[in-house]
Amino acid sequence: MINISGLSKRYFEITALDNVALNIPSGEIFGLVGSNGAGKTTLMRCVMALVRPDAGQINVGEFNALIDSTAVKSLIGYVAENPELYDYLTGLEYLYFVGRLYGMSRQLIRQQAEFLCKAFNLSQSTNQLVAEYSHGMRKKLAIIAAFMPKPPVLLLDEPTNGLDPESVYFLKQYLKNASRDGTTIVFSSHMLDTVEKICHRIGIIKQGRIIACDKVKKLVGQSKSLEEVFINAVNVDGKL
Ligand SMILES: Nc1ncnc2c1ncn2[C@@H]1O[C@H](COP(=O)(O)OP(=O)(O)O)[C@@H](O)[C@H]1O
Ligand SMILES: [Mg+2]
Repeated sequence: MINISGLSKRYFEITALDNVALNIPSGEIFGLVGSNGAGKTTLMRCVMALVRPDAGQINVGEFNALIDSTAVKSLIGYVAENPELYDYLTGLEYLYFVGRLYGMSRQLIRQQAEFLCKAFNLSQSTNQLVAEYSHGMRKKLAIIAAFMPKPPVLLLDEPTNGLDPESVYFLKQYLKNASRDGTTIVFSSHMLDTVEKICHRIGIIKQGRIIACDKVKKLVGQSKSLEEVFINAVNVDGKL
């Protein structure tokens, strides 16, 4: 579903992505882990056609992200690391706004918004202005907006950051079900135990390069946990 080859991106002297290749089939939950500054956000922004790479190809479904960015965006539900929302809409108005952009009927938006807001314990606040939301509430609203149209691809950049434990629990169940229904999910997180539990495959990214990429069982192998594998992998040259 997502095919990336030779992807490179530099910001002046910083190499954010260095010749990244990834193939993520339909229905897979792919975990992207890496230290701060490793390139996770840049990779997601390139797939979402928000950042133009210096080299490489990205295909989502049948569309090329560099040529048909509008088509690619319409296939993806994206939760940014720090979501940009419209402060002077209420939570519910924001969900209607996003739902309409994705071509959903008003009735479907209402159904989905009710279900997801209840699941994320946000129902009490949907008539409040987004400007008054806490960091966690903003994150929940961004996740609900991404899930609502049931897109075939979800790109989630550290979605568990700032979420309460009940919401993390629901998020995990939701992603597992969505993947069973064929949704392709890329999930970046520093919560390695969560990544280990829900992802089918994991890629470890360091200084813009995918330094390990395999099925969870194979990657963890004889080690105690993904945490141990991760620390050893990123620490190979004595530098995190
Ligand atoms: N807009 C930007 N301008 C300059 N440097 C950037 C920009 N975005 C990211 N970088 C740099 O690219 C590298 C990768 O960043 P990022 O993709 O945000 O990593 P991660 O999400 O893994 O923390 C970092 O060194 C970061 O400072
Ligand atoms: Mg990031």
